[in-house]
Amino acid sequence: MSAAPSRRRVAVLISGRGSNMTSLIAAAKDPSFPAEIALVLSNRPEAPGLATARENGITTVAIDHKHHLSREDFERAMQEVLEAHGIELVCLAGFMRILTAWFVERWTGRMINIHPALLPLYRGLHTHERALADGVKLHGASVHFVVPGMDEGPIIAQAAVPVLDGDTADTLGARVLAQEHVIYPLALGLLAGGRLTIEGARVRVSGEAAQTSALVAPQVA
Ligand code: GRF
Repeated sequence: MSAAPSRRRVAVLISGRGSNMTSLIAAAKDPSFPAEIALVLSNRPEAPGLATARENGITTVAIDHKHHLSREDFERAMQEVLEAHGIELVCLAGFMRILTAWFVERWTGRMINIHPALLPLYRGLHTHERALADGVKLHGASVHFVVPGMDEGPIIAQAAVPVLDGDTADTLGARVLAQEHVIYPLALGLLAGGRLTIEGARVRVSGEAAQTSALVAPQVA
């Protein structure tokens, strides 16, 4: 009997409810998924996602950034924990701290983030409000490699959703979030499976590519 291929050890970094974290945990329950969620780390001890992770039997650590004198100090504490748990890949999932180049460079090519917009549009906060204010017909989510610039970095996967006439930031955000939960596990699986190559700003995916058609909104008869 051949040994099962080893799975990459992943830490998910959160600050809040952790619904994307939950989608990664669910995907990793499949033994054929090339990553295991070995650790969930939060900068907020009260983050609801920590309890969800524990309910799923996952080790959690809270490192309160307010207890550290500087950003670097806080990041050194995180780095120590990640190393102590043998972490190989990091997923930011609603982690609301800006990371310094010191930390980001330690994880180059091994740290990814989910952003609720079709990058490079709407970097930063309040993406759904800004998309509605601009009147765009398509909005969505992106998973990208983390580089020192906020919400920059080569894009791995994106999902687009239509903006509907009656949308509020909440209804649009919920439509986007449902797709976040699809593309984040997809992107982590590709990364952990060794299928991604960064070429400048582009990410190439090896293996079979699905042939997809254009997504057009609005879809009128
Ligand atoms: C998500 O919208 C994600 O795109 C953004 O922060 C939010 C986190 O939500 N980076 P959750 O904690 O994963 O539910």
